[in-house]
Amino acid sequence: MKHYLNINNLDNLQNTVQEAITLKKNELQFEHLGKGKTICLLFFNNSLRTRLSTQKAAQNLGLNVIVMNFGSEGWQLEYEDGVVMNQDKAEHVKEAAEVIAQYCDFVAIRAFASLTDKEKDKAEIVLNNFKKYAGIPVINMESATGHPLQALADAITIEEYKVAHKPKVVLSWAPHPRALPHAVANSFVEMMQLQDADFVITHPEGYELDTEITKNAKIEYNQKKAFENADFVYVKNWSSFKDYGKVVCTDENWMINEEKMNVTNNGKFMHCLPVRRNVVVADEVIDSENSIVIQQANNRTYSAQIVLKKILENN
Ligand code: CP
Repeated sequence: MKHYLNINNLDNLQNTVQEAITLKKNELQFEHLGKGKTICLLFFNNSLRTRLSTQKAAQNLGLNVIVMNFGSEGWQLEYEDGVVMNQDKAEHVKEAAEVIAQYCDFVAIRAFASLTDKEKDKAEIVLNNFKKYAGIPVINMESATGHPLQALADAITIEEYKVAHKPKVVLSWAPHPRALPHAVANSFVEMMQLQDADFVITHPEGYELDTEITKNAKIEYNQKKAFENADFVYVKNWSSFKDYGKVVCTDENWMINEEKMNVTNNGKFMHCLPVRRNVVVADEVIDSENSIVIQQANNRTYSAQIVLKKILENN
């Protein structure tokens, strides 16, 4: 694996999940692997988990880590070719990417969707321009359309907590006051498509995800019906894809509460975090023993570490 831009870059999800679970038992066993090499973590957007877990994962592998909050500390980048750069963009991605590649062996990037230009977001202009011009492995730390490190952590968590061989897993939309990207939901769907599971997506009408990603996934507009006998309830807000980036519904009846969880099969509650309590999920659910959000966040380290290990071994 040269780059990790999408969960489908993994040769085999199930094997990778097992390798991550083994790695977790002795996280320093490959600390020699990254010796003398450097990774740059570039953040165009805020982060808690991704920043700390990816840095920890890299350090566990012996890598030097340089972190830059590009969004607030770097020059504004131009991505179009042939532009007269006499406005607010001070540097072209061509130079920025080539320069960064001289300082490090790998670059990991967080660059969220604009939610204003669907075509540009779908083209993944930040990730793909860095891939094109840096010439070194690029790792996606949440891009316009995907968050594959999160999805791999989610797969590890489901594997650790599943009881049924073929669990029922529900991805549920929940309300949020702000327009949020589709990246986490998209990667979760892509990851679930690689699993042997009964997978259902539930959301209000108008919140259909990109059908190029959901393909023939089962969609149930009745949230409570979707929750029946679920082993895992994975909750996330996202804005409309059709009416791109718009909040078309904030129906608080979609918040996850105990009454809804009671129709599940003693289901586990999952969320990638950060989460707004009592908007997305009631305290009674996130504070219950069926909530595995903290364990899920812990697995971000092993998700990043197994990905970095595979990239180190192949570059
Ligand atoms: N889940 C996740 O990516 O968290 P951060 O945005 O805090 O990195």
